[in-house]
Amino acid sequence: MSRIAFVAGNWKMNGSLAKVDAFASEFKQTGADLSCDLAVCVPNVYLQRMIEGLDGSGVAVGAQNLSGETEPGAFTGEINGTMLGEIGCKYVIVGHSERRAMYGETDEIVVAKTKAAAAAGLQPIVCIGETLEQREADQTETVLATQLNAVLNGCSADELKDFVLAYEPVWAIGTGRSATPEQAQAVHAFLRAQIADRDATMADSIQIIYGGSVKPDNAAEIFSGKDVDGALVGGASLKVESFLDIARAAQ
Ligand code: PGA
Repeated sequence: MSRIAFVAGNWKMNGSLAKVDAFASEFKQTGADLSCDLAVCVPNVYLQRMIEGLDGSGVAVGAQNLSGETEPGAFTGEINGTMLGEIGCKYVIVGHSERRAMYGETDEIVVAKTKAAAAAGLQPIVCIGETLEQREADQTETVLATQLNAVLNGCSADELKDFVLAYEPVWAIGTGRSATPEQAQAVHAFLRAQIADRDATMADSIQIIYGGSVKPDNAAEIFSGKDVDGALVGGASLKVESFLDIARAAQ
């Protein structure tokens, strides 16, 4: 088993042109020599600027959402995977818990978006996670298996060949309370075993990353779990220094 670590930043609805430019130029000055996969997912209006700014830096750029529709048409306000690919996006986050909770994204929609991302040649970063209530009711594995199996059942092996799985416990996102290394490892091992039931090769190669209050000071211990292949980082990805510290801990 030899998986490359992956650290992806999720800027959510944060940033400005000035911050994009500053991030890109600072990264180019200080971020050389990292051997892990890196990406930063910024608001759509900043994608192209970030792609240009990070050109040659080794950091890929991703979107935070896409339409489940693959054909162009009358879908006001939507952006499809082909458009994201055309400007040079490599990744797209799918099914983040904020989209599930605030924008009604069901497992069915998550499947459609994962398929749409694959059809456009993008790598979907599919997010799954339980709420605190579900964890306390001992439903963590059931909830995660349902969310994961929707995607595994709904997509073909070809559509899943480049997908990244992000385990993001809802109670850990933006709260400063990350999962413990033991909690993260236990869930990641469970998810990898679920995938192995269908496809042992995929289970061995898929990057399963953890998200939820990952910071420079807790990253190394979270990454110590053998099934934890990196992180999806919100708040701490807005500054090059903390993003790089987390990336260094991952490699
Ligand atoms: P956080 O966000 O690192 O700010 O907790 C993680 C995420 O939502 O992807």
